[in-house]
Amino acid sequence: MTTTEAGAALAGANATDSARAGLSNLRGQGTGQADPARVSAVVGAALEGIRAAIRDNKVTYEEFDAFKQWLIAVSDTGEWPLFLDVYLEFEVEKVAAQTQQGSVGTILGPFWLDGQAQLTTPATLPMRDDEPGTPMILAGQVTDTDGTPLRGATVDIWHTDDEGWYSGFASKPPAGNLRGVVACDDEGRFEIHTRKPAPYTIPLDGPTGQMTQAAGWSPWRPAHIHLLVAAPGHRTLTSQLFFTGDPYLGNDVASADKPELTLDPQPTGNGDEVRSDRDFVLEPGQD
Ligand SMILES: [Fe+2]
Repeated sequence: MTTTEAGAALAGANATDSARAGLSNLRGQGTGQADPARVSAVVGAALEGIRAAIRDNKVTYEEFDAFKQWLIAVSDTGEWPLFLDVYLEFEVEKVAAQTQQGSVGTILGPFWLDGQAQLTTPATLPMRDDEPGTPMILAGQVTDTDGTPLRGATVDIWHTDDEGWYSGFASKPPAGNLRGVVACDDEGRFEIHTRKPAPYTIPLDGPTGQMTQAAGWSPWRPAHIHLLVAAPGHRTLTSQLFFTGDPYLGNDVASADKPELTLDPQPTGNGDEVRSDRDFVLEPGQD
């Protein structure tokens, strides 16, 4: 399902508001101080990468002007968080993963929202009375790296509806739809009732989508469930879960899918309901 123009424009602008709040701090603590040597190394390498692209491809003044116009359009439409999370965040996540024990994570993306429904397991995510899609249960347990069940664990979960829309970023689903923070039981167990999400494209009418299509790249993300799994005294896990058989697995525009993160939901026998069980392991550290 592709996004409409209205929905796409809303998506880019709302992501900017969230990014201004400093979402990357969900993963760790910044020093707040710029180290000149670090700035020189990182910014210098980034600039040299662009200069090399200019030299190697003999970029013309016409193309340079188009590049400027595109950068300005990304700002004007509020798509910087979208562009950065789609095309660069996965590399930052790989660096972070080098020092993270426990379950495999992936990118946060631009569509997390604070202040969602606080629920207790077994929980049903907020949804419309006639919420479309396959009923799905996601259940599991949160433990420490030594296997100890984690009391006080929470699972912050958000995903699209059956048409690929995120509440808060598109006009169709109501605020808070298919989002919630679920408190686990004393053994770190959770059971979340929701609807299976759908694949979606990044917004196609903005500069990020236009660049993607101009390059002939797929704008699709495979269907996925976003998760922030947290527990006191433990490093928060940022992850996503995908689904076996999804046509966009391995060709995710955000490069966020990983084989370890694929679910294979099975029928429960209750109508068309399906269920997947997935445990999460958190390493001790900053929560
Ligand atoms: Fe997503």
